[in-house]
Amino acid sequence: MKPTLKPSNPNFSSGPCSKHPGYDISKLDLSTLGRSHRSNIGKTALEQVCTRTAEILGLPEGYRVGVVPGSDTGAMEMAMWSLLGERPVDVFGWESFGQGWITDITKQLKLDNVRTITAEYGSLPDMSQANPEHDSVFTWNGTTSGTKLSDADWIADDRNGLTICDATSAVFAMDMPWHKLDVVTFSWQKVLGGEGAHGMLILSPRAVERLETYTPPWPMPKIFRLTSKGKLSEGIFKGATINTPSMLCVADYLDALDWVEAVGGVSATIEKSNNNLKTLEAFVDTTPWIHFLAQDANARSNTSVCFTVDLSAEKVKTFIKLLADEQVAFDIGSYKDAPTGLRIWAGATIEQADLETLLPWLEWAYQEVA
Ligand SMILES: Cc1ncc(COP(=O)(O)O)c(C=O)c1O
Repeated sequence: MKPTLKPSNPNFSSGPCSKHPGYDISKLDLSTLGRSHRSNIGKTALEQVCTRTAEILGLPEGYRVGVVPGSDTGAMEMAMWSLLGERPVDVFGWESFGQGWITDITKQLKLDNVRTITAEYGSLPDMSQANPEHDSVFTWNGTTSGTKLSDADWIADDRNGLTICDATSAVFAMDMPWHKLDVVTFSWQKVLGGEGAHGMLILSPRAVERLETYTPPWPMPKIFRLTSKGKLSEGIFKGATINTPSMLCVADYLDALDWVEAVGGVSATIEKSNNNLKTLEAFVDTTPWIHFLAQDANARSNTSVCFTVDLSAEKVKTFIKLLADEQVAFDIGSYKDAPTGLRIWAGATIEQADLETLLPWLEWAYQEVA
């Protein structure tokens, strides 16, 4: 039977992700628009982005947070171009974006001493192969495979290499082991449902030490430059961005941080996302035609939840279109390079009630197309 109730918010995209519940663009503080980002008011807003992010995430003392160009990709590439090459690198990839960092390291930076440790969509590579004397590069949550790291026990506390972690679909949704991570990147458009364009770069004191003692042999575009005369450009981590940011996106991100605080902080957004995953797990447990792409329940993402379904690729397309036409679910097809199936975002901006309302529609669409 065709359900009658529709999710009040049908946006289940894995990026840009749904705006937070209660989002109202007219409530953004737009006093910075049309002003210089280097004016007092502009700089204060940007500085708040850095300080409030550090405070809400509970970053360890000495960790720096900066706003950089180019979204998460910009933050990751800036980190790799600025830090790698000093020692061998272990790079781990198990889905599209991790594979992208492997390409950067082996084909663009063309580093010599690289080990690539990979796994197929749905599995994780053997992280215990990380050598603490090497730098390691990895994603925390594979957004296109729905597979996440469940712990950082494989990272040595007394490592000499740096750990460089793309955590764009994890920060604010998963417990991050900050002390084990020297570089963490994310973007506003993911877990908080902010806008695209800017990336966040988090550096540990050890990452800063590397920046101040090592100069890569390749040219560094201005947009990637984190140091000046051998010293960290501290201003970047206090709101003095390298180039002009969108102050509208900044206002939108600060609004998202207000929302995180209003719902009870990062522990609450993590819990909400985990509960969303439980809702989807209960459905998969009792529905024979849908399966998690992630092989191991511990490695199952609680944000970008990926599924295979017992339908041909053609029928999956019809299934997805049917739900979009009914305006009950938008953008739930798997990523273009991932195995055919569904991907449903379950981060904290998604209401559990909307997922619950979606489930009978999934069953209906399956019966329609099967
Ligand atoms: C794991 C991961 N890394 C990098 C990116 C690229 O992010 P952006 O488009 O914000 O640069 C994405 C986007 O989905 C992602 O999921």
